[in-house]
Amino acid sequence: MSHNTFGQMFRVTTWGESHGPALGCVVDGCPPGLRFTLADLQTWLDKRKPGQSRFVTQRQEDDLVRVLSGVMPQDDGSMITTGTPISLMIDNTDQRSKDYGEIAKRYRPGHADFTYDVKYGVRDYRGGGRSSARETAARVAAGGIARLVIPGVTVRGALVQIGKHKINRENWDWAQVGENPFFAPDPEIVPVWEAYLDQIRKAGSSVGAVVEVVAEGVPAGIGAPIYGKLDQDIASLLMSINAVKGVEIGNGFGAAEITGEENADEMRIGAAGMMVFLTNHAGGVLGGIATGEPVVARFAIKPTSSILTERRSIDSEGHEVDVRTKGRHDPCVGIRAVPVGEAMVACAIADHYLRDRGQTGRLK
Ligand SMILES: Cc1cc2nc3c(=O)[nH]c(=O)nc-3n(C[C@H](O)[C@H](O)[C@H](O)COP(=O)(O)O)c2cc1C
Repeated sequence: MSHNTFGQMFRVTTWGESHGPALGCVVDGCPPGLRFTLADLQTWLDKRKPGQSRFVTQRQEDDLVRVLSGVMPQDDGSMITTGTPISLMIDNTDQRSKDYGEIAKRYRPGHADFTYDVKYGVRDYRGGGRSSARETAARVAAGGIARLVIPGVTVRGALVQIGKHKINRENWDWAQVGENPFFAPDPEIVPVWEAYLDQIRKAGSSVGAVVEVVAEGVPAGIGAPIYGKLDQDIASLLMSINAVKGVEIGNGFGAAEITGEENADEMRIGAAGMMVFLTNHAGGVLGGIATGEPVVARFAIKPTSSILTERRSIDSEGHEVDVRTKGRHDPCVGIRAVPVGEAMVACAIADHYLRDRGQTGRLK
């Protein structure tokens, strides 16, 4: 009953706190014989690490990942998974615990301070302890292993909205995502977001965002009906990310606004004699099972709770207090949530891929 583990066949347990010496995860269930390099894993952590632009927290962490177990080192510097638990570790190097002394007894609105105290009666207030999104570095590392399990599947994320400013979907270009500090697929939105976030940052305020994750090449047939739905598990893992307040698959909440005719994903026989879907309103999943179309998920991230303006609260001794959150924070945590969302979708798909292989034996 500790709830630090997710997945059934591809099983990830994360550990660690914001201001402890290190954090990490254990990935169990990874098949043997998968070759990778440390650089393959680090690439994903580099996308999430803080301090990379003025729009994210200035905490300086290299987020260098170490592989402690579960692999056989090779002469060329690569490693091969052995089928045993893979332990991944990332050091915390830039903690400033003194920034948090003032909130040892005060509950910051929007944070998990109050609820952790209610539940556990003891709380690591330094940087939010276990409730800190530092923990998501471990998930991103696990996502790097998940990607090895699902050859031919590409999982990519992009930021599609900051505050009320949405991208123009007609401008969507994946090549642009790596070219700006927001993971924006629409180059025209970049100056708009820059000006807006500069204003928010200077005011010590924060704003929410929407992230979209698309997985292509997902084999049709993975997933399961009713209680093991692929979309259910993707939604659950995305919802488990800090600050996520809503998840949708395919048309999502938009499906409530259209007719059955508009929402139907019609089918035809394509040029190669294979069945094709003419649209993908379902977001790649029907009845909990992948259709073979891109799996599309979006999640809404709330505005960063740590803001410089005083907010009313209480302390653990029952006094009314005003809380202003010092320390280094992201004005929009949605930006750094993009690689985290990708990792969670990759883990969900890897888990279902292995579950399907175990049950039907169809996949290699
Ligand atoms: C990548 C990432 C970075 C985050 N960084 C911060 C931060 O700097 N300041 C903050 O107030 N919240 C931050 N959060 C959100 C908090 O961790 C989260 O809101 C808090 O723990 C309460 O949990 P809940 O919002 O899920 O209810 C971050 C979230 C993510 C995904």
